[in-house]
Amino acid sequence: MFRTRCCYCILCSLLGLLLAWLMLATPQAARAQAPKGPVSFINDVAPILKENCYACHDSKKKKGKLEMTSYENLRKGGTKDDPVTPGKSKESLLIGVVTSTGAEGQLPHMPPKDVGDPLSKEQIGLIAKWIDEGAKLDAGVDPKTELIRELRIRFKPPQPPAAYKFPVNINALAFTPDNKKLVVGGYHELTVWDVAGGKLEKRLWTRSERAYAMAFLPDGNLAVAGGRPGQEGDVRIYNINAPGKDQGGVQFLDGVNDKNVLIRHLLESDDSVLALAVSPDGKKLASGGCDRLVRVWDLAGGQLEHAIENHADWVFAVTFAADNIHLVTGSRDKTAKVWDLKAKESVLTFPDHQNGVYGVGIASDGKTGWSCGEDNQVRQWQATDEKKQIGKQIRAMTGHGKAIFKVVQNNDPKNPILATCSADNTVRIWDPVKGAALKTLSGHSDWVFAVALSPDGQLVAGGSYNGEVRVWKTGDGSLVKDFNASPGYTPKATAAKK
Ligand code: HEC
Repeated sequence: MFRTRCCYCILCSLLGLLLAWLMLATPQAARAQAPKGPVSFINDVAPILKENCYACHDSKKKKGKLEMTSYENLRKGGTKDDPVTPGKSKESLLIGVVTSTGAEGQLPHMPPKDVGDPLSKEQIGLIAKWIDEGAKLDAGVDPKTELIRELRIRFKPPQPPAAYKFPVNINALAFTPDNKKLVVGGYHELTVWDVAGGKLEKRLWTRSERAYAMAFLPDGNLAVAGGRPGQEGDVRIYNINAPGKDQGGVQFLDGVNDKNVLIRHLLESDDSVLALAVSPDGKKLASGGCDRLVRVWDLAGGQLEHAIENHADWVFAVTFAADNIHLVTGSRDKTAKVWDLKAKESVLTFPDHQNGVYGVGIASDGKTGWSCGEDNQVRQWQATDEKKQIGKQIRAMTGHGKAIFKVVQNNDPKNPILATCSADNTVRIWDPVKGAALKTLSGHSDWVFAVALSPDGQLVAGGSYNGEVRVWKTGDGSLVKDFNASPGYTPKATAAKK
């Protein structure tokens, strides 16, 4: 699949997804093995078509002129007639192509053999049973309903495991406003840890499978961007201080159903939301993700103010400049860009990474921007048009030996620092004025996907692929605490290396 080539974080998310899937077989997979009672098109058949056939039979590709995006379109057929003959699975083209040997003179095999695994016997059995039962659409579902959307609505988030068998990979973490706790993204949950003791305090269940970005709002609520890779994305706002249920000293909060916990729901989209930023004045929230759009909401009213289509590929990073007007973004399209929200236009494009850009930032005076990514560099560039040098590289800050997944900055204009995290298993601290590396913080035994600075700038935390969290003092680089943020998981000394 094309996604596996794109970038480490998504690749690992997929691996993580696989692990998670092994831990918790999805209800759909369970159903495919044990068809009981009448087969439901929307719950049983559509997920199989979506997983195995949509890549070529969506509204864009329409291979064989066949579109499966809705029940109606499926039944319209493609170059041939309706692929379904109700009551007669053996005569149906749909069953014909998934059971064909694909030999000369036979029907083509679907999915084409060089592209995907054939459907399992159970899956074919389910589709055949549905056809034999009359190939009906479920009551109450419009034949024109977009199946992807309907499946998304019907998705029921699983409860996170009581104890993880595999470490959860961390894509995002954030310090609480009092600098004392860390919120860490898990599998369909956020976990809250006391930094000094490394103790699990809360588990907050989320619809989103993974959190890719988090930002505390001025009112103390937490905005979280995330999704299920390739399935859905969201931006939701949670009150992590709402009362939960105490179980053995850990508070359980229901961020799926409890309105005191899930405060607001800003976005639901077709694929993951990867980046999030609050404006310095606390009035706006910006997001970016796999749909290439950068969105900006007014936080007071919750309305979407901008949906900016300026990047040609996934948006991995967004940050506001101190003026609350300029927005810096980074993308898999290999560029960092600055957008003017007032003028509604692109101000500059920085192309020098020549590879995916995963993180961005901008100095408090707005003159210097920086970006990092797949090319192992933090690059500083001219963000204003003095002497027509806008978008020119000032320097490359070298040091990381592998891809740099994120760059974050502190809030102190007098003493600015940057922190980065990398596939070289380190977190680094930099002086963005001198462009110098200040500290290399090691000890992670896996790729560090997430990095966060405490609001007071005293602490920096890294979160990695294997669930490790390490917290250091930014001043002297000493380790404050390390723990694995996968509840109930006990890392084995002999754990297999990647
Ligand atoms: C990698 C792309 C790809 C995937 C995945 C794929 N198909 Fe196809 N499909 C095609 C192409 C190409 C054709 C046209 C082939 C031909 O006419 O020889 C086609 C034709 C068909 C047709 C005949 C349509 C008509 O009216 O001519 C059916 C039915 C079909 N596919 C079903 C499926 C099913 C069911 C799946 C999933 C289990 C699937 N396909 C997955 C590429 C794909």
